[in-house]
Amino acid sequence: MSEILQSQTGAVLTVTINRPEKKNAITNAMYGTLVDALERAQADKAIRCVLVTGAGDTFTAGNDLMDFAAVAAGGLAREQIQGFRFLDRLAEFEKPLIAAVPGLAVGIGTTLLLHCDLVVLSETAVLSVPFVDLALVPEAGSSLLLQQRIGYVRAFAMFALGERIDAKTALSWGLANKVVPPDVLQGEAMAAAQALASKPPGALAASKRLMRDSEALKTVIAMEADIFEARLKSPEAREAFTAFAQRRPPDYGKF
Ligand code: COA
Repeated sequence: MSEILQSQTGAVLTVTINRPEKKNAITNAMYGTLVDALERAQADKAIRCVLVTGAGDTFTAGNDLMDFAAVAAGGLAREQIQGFRFLDRLAEFEKPLIAAVPGLAVGIGTTLLLHCDLVVLSETAVLSVPFVDLALVPEAGSSLLLQQRIGYVRAFAMFALGERIDAKTALSWGLANKVVPPDVLQGEAMAAAQALASKPPGALAASKRLMRDSEALKTVIAMEADIFEARLKSPEAREAFTAFAQRRPPDYGKF
């Protein structure tokens, strides 16, 4: 079974991150498929809205940390890192993007939501962006977008202290439109996606363009990516990935 599922319901393309045994952690190959899905959706007139979700009870545990370890070991050149391509596609995606978040949303699982036009959370959703705990820095434009959305000190606490927020808090901070019971999550998100798919596509795309400066976003994303890539190769990050693999807390005392 593919780790990124794609299915079309009318004019809605549903993209499901489907690696439940690893909490839907996203590998480089999976990012490549996500890039293909966004490019296809952008080009295909029959697709008017994209709905992103996760299989099972998790949205995604974020980047696959073993992939990060491979990059840290020099295994992948910048242009081979599909995650960076995915972020660019997200920033410039012109059709409406909706997220249905069934549970944990770590790292890109939360920063992706900042690029979605509507966000529906299950009551069981928990959002976190523990980049500093991994010796990394915010990505996906989140160094700018998260503080714009929720304020600097809340954003800093999420990035630097790894604070997790529950669905109700996320709703009250403006990170979501709705919190719903888990059993109606997909139905609610699909209803919203179909409502958007029935709107005039030109007006939707133009409204989205007015509300999001994608060129400015791409500049922030590129700046973050330079620092992120350097951090991935740092001894601090090596310690973080080794600790995760060894199921122990990282020890940053020596740095
Ligand atoms: N990358 C790679 N593998 C991951 C992963 C990730 N980001 N997140 C979870 N997994 C794997 C675990 O290694 C484990 O694999 P195993 O069964 O082969 O040992 C499996 O998914 C289940 O995870 P587990 O930790 O046992 O589940 P949990 O419910 O106790 O905890 C999380 C879930 C998501 C809280 C925890 O796995 C976690 O903190 N993951 C890392 C999240 C992260 O830092 N992401 C990067 C953000 S940039």
